[in-house]
Amino acid sequence: KHPLNIVKMKKMKQEGNALSMVTAYDYPTAQLAEEAGVDMILVGDSLGNVVLGYDSTLPVTIEDMVYHTRSVVRGAGNTFVVADMPFMTYHGSIDETLRNVRKLMQEGHAHAVKMEGGREICSAVETITGAGVPVLGHIGLTPQSVNQIGGYRIQGKDEKDAQRLLEDAKALEQAGAFGIVLELVTEQVAEYITSQLSIPTIGIGAGRGVDGQVLVFHDIFQYASPYRNKKFVKNFGDAGTLIREGFVQYVKEVKERSFPDESHVFTAEDQVVENLYG
Ligand code: KIV
Ligand code: NA
Repeated sequence: KHPLNIVKMKKMKQEGNALSMVTAYDYPTAQLAEEAGVDMILVGDSLGNVVLGYDSTLPVTIEDMVYHTRSVVRGAGNTFVVADMPFMTYHGSIDETLRNVRKLMQEGHAHAVKMEGGREICSAVETITGAGVPVLGHIGLTPQSVNQIGGYRIQGKDEKDAQRLLEDAKALEQAGAFGIVLELVTEQVAEYITSQLSIPTIGIGAGRGVDGQVLVFHDIFQYASPYRNKKFVKNFGDAGTLIREGFVQYVKEVKERSFPDESHVFTAEDQVVENLYG
């Protein structure tokens, strides 16, 4: 399989080929996503919620992102990997912003970075793309601003808000972003924005008129996701139930001493296993 790149993504938009993106935070998940043929993997700062157990994305650090991005890239094969810039790592001096981008690219081995925000981050987007780093924009509901927005609200509900989102999207394209994530935006507004851009839009809770879709791994597979019954999510499996029931069975068998049985035990004839954890 040939690796995807930002030129091909633009072409996919023109040809009407949908882009599939999913989050991953570790090596095995990246491997499974790669084997399934997803177009892009996002190491999202949703890491904070679904893997680290925080109640928002705000506590996630650049070191957290580097650590998880490295493990994802090791499993991702040729798949294009985008890493989130965490809260407050791209709003200070441009020097500090570039130091953080460098960490994700050079230490995390990401292929691109994602940043939340519209016109207010465009000068940073211009500098980063000028350094050869692809930037994925992210507008609509931007979880890093949850305290300013006042909750996880649907975006683009009135004319003024729709106009603001459109202007932000155009500004990001102008600044060099290769695509834009639209999060929790009404279907009508997301479709209109998509029609006004030459770069792909990737929706999450943004309806059917966008160029691609992204979902959080833990949501797709009901894997102990802290947010249940989200309208925009479709479950494609139930890992939560699978693992919970498996654990119950394991505990039971250990307690009643039915595991291990004869097939799991060593005798003097057995050799040492080659890789204990492989
Ligand atoms: O952090 C994340 O997972 C994201 C997606 C929801 C777009 O930003
Ligand atoms: Na994110």
